[in-house]
Amino acid sequence: MPKTVSVIPGDGIGPEVTREALETLETLGLDLRFDVLDHVNADTYLRTGVSLSDEDFERVKANDAVLFGAIGDPRVTTSDYGRGVLLRLRFDLDLFVNHRPATLLHEDLSPLRDERTRAIDCVIVRENTEGLYTDIGGVLRGDTEHETAMDVDVSTYMGVSRIMEYAYSIARRGVCMVDKSNAVRHGGRVWQRAFKEAAARNPGIRSTHLYVDAAAMRFVSDPSEFDVIVTNNSYGDILSDLAAMLAGGLGNAASANINPVTGFGLYEPVHGSAPDIAGQGIGNPFGAILSSALMLEHLGWPHEADALRRAVGTAIALGQVTPDLGGSLGTKEAGEAVRSALAAG
Ligand code: NAD
Ligand code: IPM
Ligand code: MN
Repeated sequence: MPKTVSVIPGDGIGPEVTREALETLETLGLDLRFDVLDHVNADTYLRTGVSLSDEDFERVKANDAVLFGAIGDPRVTTSDYGRGVLLRLRFDLDLFVNHRPATLLHEDLSPLRDERTRAIDCVIVRENTEGLYTDIGGVLRGDTEHETAMDVDVSTYMGVSRIMEYAYSIARRGVCMVDKSNAVRHGGRVWQRAFKEAAARNPGIRSTHLYVDAAAMRFVSDPSEFDVIVTNNSYGDILSDLAAMLAGGLGNAASANINPVTGFGLYEPVHGSAPDIAGQGIGNPFGAILSSALMLEHLGWPHEADALRRAVGTAIALGQVTPDLGGSLGTKEAGEAVRSALAAG
């Protein structure tokens, strides 16, 4: 069965890194078609006020998956655009799992000095449709001395239970639930309850708990203890950038926004549009390429996904990398290095 993937390259380095992911996927000769929506970007938003039209949303929904670059532009100063594209896709397609693996791709890339604690190989399972991201809230007495802003932190028992279930379903060694239930009272109770129930259903898997501040500390002192971390939308956002750096760099980090029930997914690097280096042709394409590997795995091509991961590993071992990883290659050359490694098998 041919599969059709919607491609939203986005802004800044998004199109630059997505191009390398697409070119790399094309060399695999799979029955895979691309439906490119390169008009979904900040230019269009600034011109028309539309982030993602209903027509484009339906087009994306009709395809098998989405490969996403990054969005964000310094000219856009409100959250409407980002919410209208990426968060709309996550929420309206109910992609409730944000699966963000962090695996050290090469020892030299770790910022940690002690080699015994460098071996990070974990997955951050980030709840992707609730928390502080629901847009529930409002403003009272806006633009005055008394402006009062409220963003409601939403935790539903259903939403938290289903993210726990996913976390346990992928665990190899253990699940660590990260919350702030010592301070956040009501939501904390829901997270604790759903966690205890999921732990009881999975006696063969080691269940542990950390408050998010301690989790941040443990990540730096010894990330090797973590297997699956399950946490809310905001803590998952923050911890996944931290884990990405410990695993070798934000530019390498991949993610899958998935609904395990429908099987639909949106795959994107963890990083953003990197306006500070956009247009220079030096953005690291590995996060985008590894995100396309996650997509292949979900579309039923696990061997090709492994081949892509191995090829990225080879490029890194050979030092064929962009400046963020200490190399001197451009985005295109780093993509070529992966394709050469793929061709060499
Ligand atoms: P960022 O991830 O874009 O950049 C943070 C830092 O990491 C920058 O110094 C950047 O140059 C570097 N970096 C990121 N990706 C890199 C890569 N592939 N290669 C080399 N260096 C890389 O985060 P930011 O600066 O906070 O945000 C910039 C814009 O991106 C904002 O508009 C933000 O909202 C948006 N954003 C979008 C997404 C997304 O689309 N999924 C994710 C994060 C941020
Ligand atoms: C991410 C990004 C997004 C998020 C932004 C762009 C809304 O930081 O995918 O990690 O916070 O989820
Ligand atoms: Mn983020």
